[in-house]
Amino acid sequence: MNEPLIAPSILSADFARLGAEVDAVLEAGADMIHFDVMDNHYVPNLTVGPLVCQALRDHGVRAPIDVHLMIKPVDRIIPDFAAAGASWITFHPEASEHIDRSLALIREHGCKAGLVFNPATPLDCLRYVADKVDMVLLMSVNPGFPAQKFIPGTLGKLREARRLIDELGGGIRLEVDGGIKANNIREVAEAGADTFVAGSAIFGADDYSQAVATMRGEIRA
Ligand code: DX5
Ligand code: ZN
Repeated sequence: MNEPLIAPSILSADFARLGAEVDAVLEAGADMIHFDVMDNHYVPNLTVGPLVCQALRDHGVRAPIDVHLMIKPVDRIIPDFAAAGASWITFHPEASEHIDRSLALIREHGCKAGLVFNPATPLDCLRYVADKVDMVLLMSVNPGFPAQKFIPGTLGKLREARRLIDELGGGIRLEVDGGIKANNIREVAEAGADTFVAGSAIFGADDYSQAVATMRGEIRA
């Protein structure tokens, strides 16, 4: 099993103070930064692109940046995010015309590659591209907005994804994103997740260190 990682989502940060917010959650013990990219086309919201990723690197952020693309198409922005300092790049299979090619493109540009599955999207394609996948991200909300409610059916899907990943071998990470809180992270971990995105539960807390520590304690308990 991979070491658990906690990845605060910038979507719930104060964007006017993004560098300081990212510094604060990393000082609070977070492992990496989840960077949500939305295009008002694939999802009904609009966020930030490679310039802001680069700005975080220029600001001095050294932690891994986990770029979650909620955009369509995906391929033409991949080189730009790699050049801007992305560590991981994940995309939704239905947003790419050629999933195998998009995965290969991410690795060719030196990043780790991942596929993101919406709550109702089957995991089927994973089997055929597993050798090009470093992470599987299961959405536990419909993508587009922070602070939504965790969809309980994700637990069964996590168990299914965990079985498939174990069968395929190779240490693929299993990330979960949406509605993760201190009061559900334990069952999410028990269902097989090893990488935990949390936006509002961390950036919405008065004390980031306490929020991260509580989550980590629940995972380890
Ligand atoms: C949803 C984004 C998530 C979101 C998580 O479309 O991909 O990363 O910001 O936020 P919370 O943890 O508040 O559900
Ligand atoms: Zn996300």
